[in-house]
Amino acid sequence: VTPAVGKGIARIDARAKVTGAATYAADTAVANVAHAVIVGSTIARGTLHPIDATAAEGSPGVIAVLRPGRVPALNVTANPKNPGDRVLQLLQDDQIHYVDQPIAVVVADTLEHAQHGARLVTATYTEQPNEGSIEHRLTEAYDPGKMAHGTAASARGDFAKAFAGAPVRVEQTYTTPIENHNPMEPHATVAVWQGAGALTVYDATQGIFGVRNKLAATFGLEPTQVRVIDKFVGGGFGCKGGTWSHVALAGLAAKVVGKPVKLVVTRPQMFSLVGHRPKTIQDLKLGADRSGKLVAIQHAVISETSQFDQFVEPSAQQTRMLYSCPNVVTSHHLVRVDIPTPTFMRAPGESTGTFAIESAMDELAVALRMDPVQLRIVNHADSDEDAKKPFSSKSLLECYRRGAAAFGWDRRNQRPGAMRDGDWLVGHGMATATYPMNVSPASAIAKMKPDGTLVVLAGTQDIGTGAYTVFTQIAADAMDLPVEQVHFDLGDTTFPETPVSGGSQTTASTGSAVKLACTELRAKLENLRTAPGQSWGEIVKVNGEAEVTAEHKTTVLPSKEAHSCHSFGAVFCEARVDVLTREVRVARLTGVYAAGKIINPRTAHSQFLGGLVWAIGMALHEETVRDPRTARAVTRDLADYHVPVAADMPVFDIQTVDEDDPFINALGAKGIGEIGITGGAAAIANAIYSATGIRVRDLPIRLDRLMA
Ligand code: MOS
Repeated sequence: VTPAVGKGIARIDARAKVTGAATYAADTAVANVAHAVIVGSTIARGTLHPIDATAAEGSPGVIAVLRPGRVPALNVTANPKNPGDRVLQLLQDDQIHYVDQPIAVVVADTLEHAQHGARLVTATYTEQPNEGSIEHRLTEAYDPGKMAHGTAASARGDFAKAFAGAPVRVEQTYTTPIENHNPMEPHATVAVWQGAGALTVYDATQGIFGVRNKLAATFGLEPTQVRVIDKFVGGGFGCKGGTWSHVALAGLAAKVVGKPVKLVVTRPQMFSLVGHRPKTIQDLKLGADRSGKLVAIQHAVISETSQFDQFVEPSAQQTRMLYSCPNVVTSHHLVRVDIPTPTFMRAPGESTGTFAIESAMDELAVALRMDPVQLRIVNHADSDEDAKKPFSSKSLLECYRRGAAAFGWDRRNQRPGAMRDGDWLVGHGMATATYPMNVSPASAIAKMKPDGTLVVLAGTQDIGTGAYTVFTQIAADAMDLPVEQVHFDLGDTTFPETPVSGGSQTTASTGSAVKLACTELRAKLENLRTAPGQSWGEIVKVNGEAEVTAEHKTTVLPSKEAHSCHSFGAVFCEARVDVLTREVRVARLTGVYAAGKIINPRTAHSQFLGGLVWAIGMALHEETVRDPRTARAVTRDLADYHVPVAADMPVFDIQTVDEDDPFINALGAKGIGEIGITGGAAAIANAIYSATGIRVRDLPIRLDRLMA
């Protein structure tokens, strides 16, 4: 059988998705289901008065109005060991911390009755002054000490001395706005209790085991008493990485009314109830000698968090290892404002952080009159100078070389505004892309049936990335079977435990478990073989078994721990800016990525492409705007919150550099979900500078920011 890994086979679930046969959480058909609608606070800070629910309770079809003082006590705290865990708002008290905070849940026989009932809930408050913007509170910035991975601050060498003595310096501030994830499928939960000690939940999530554990902790159950099912996810990007209030509120509502409850988060609620990318203010200082060699780097980040919980956007983390430099200091500070808690959003840290450092590198290249690619080559880090470890593999120089050649970088004119095509000013910019290679322990079970079917189960998620497909390919190769003979299933906590589909770690983690479970099954079957030439199915049959199974749980390899493990890439952009109207078109994007072994080039291409589309959104379109008077998000739908559409698409050239990395995991795959957005916004901003001579340091780059 020819190997399936490395082949761009079509998605196993493509037909189910395009024909509507794929069931997403809200599609789950449950008998006797009631519908729940969340009523949100209209103020950002204050005390909620007892709610008058008389009208709502008397409204047709309304079964219950859950509100503070009328619901059982629940555990709302977060597990400090889990960085994705959040403090929830479950109607346990009368304190308001942000606009849209759940203050009541209306449950009715139909969605329309629940929506109508929700409009009849009247709330009054004792309001306190709110602050939604970190700019007004910068003096209150504090050092959180720790981030999801590592410390908030780092230092090596003597930055102050080296920067003071550097002949060429860049010192600038860059900002990135609040963004919201907005997957096509909104969050949704269907909760079904089977008695007081058994809860089944159909949830739109990137991590079914995380939801299971959070619900167990919230309701005082054992994790084994909660089952979470999630067969298809319509995009995640980080907002579905944790468990938010609405999931537990669905469980609570189902418990109170004694029947199954469906709760779908509305599109406007997607801007408040499920996290966001926080605003960042990033101060960059770069010092170099006249040859372009970096001698000093400082990257200081301030971002926002809520009053009741903590999330750090780790924007300076990659700066610690991205370039060779003896004197580097980084820091992250937080400012508390009256907003919901931010969270991970596609390449949390690297997307916002590479906008700043890669813009600053472009400014340094201008100051040095040096080619931006050459500047990066001169400062290439041969080892991780922060972790003091060798890289497990690094093909960044090859990415620069191939990207520059494919893009035609040698035809670039370094003088801003020098390239013109009719009314269009044409600019070329580039940036480095980077994302860590993450992996966590995972398990999978492989079963050979007498008919020759290989069944593989792992409780992971396919968040639209192609997990069903690549795990089928991996299993097929491990057993030397055609993919048609493999049945892979996921999305159920009764299957072997796997990590959250976040941090671009799913293929590396669960894929390794799939491969090793199949490898073990194969050895088992070889031992049971009674005659040469028997197929796997025949071996099961002659042994009189219903099936032969093998389960494997992976551990993180010591060779992974001994190395610094990252994907790298290079992004090149041609931007066109109308000389009069300042309309910006991204005309071409070339992305070359080295991310270890690519299991499926077709689904991988879609991942990189999606990341680059996100980079366009980040550079030009996306911004969640809060009303400064009320701290309320006013961009509450996809008409006001702009994302790139088909008409915004440039010509893409996406390539990968093959890497053979034996240190990182059983597959040699590094993960590709997030690196595509990194560097992209800077490459676009740098191209706009090249076109216009205008350096925009505040995203998104709107027309008004190009009116010089
Ligand atoms: Mo990703 S932001 O780790 O889902």
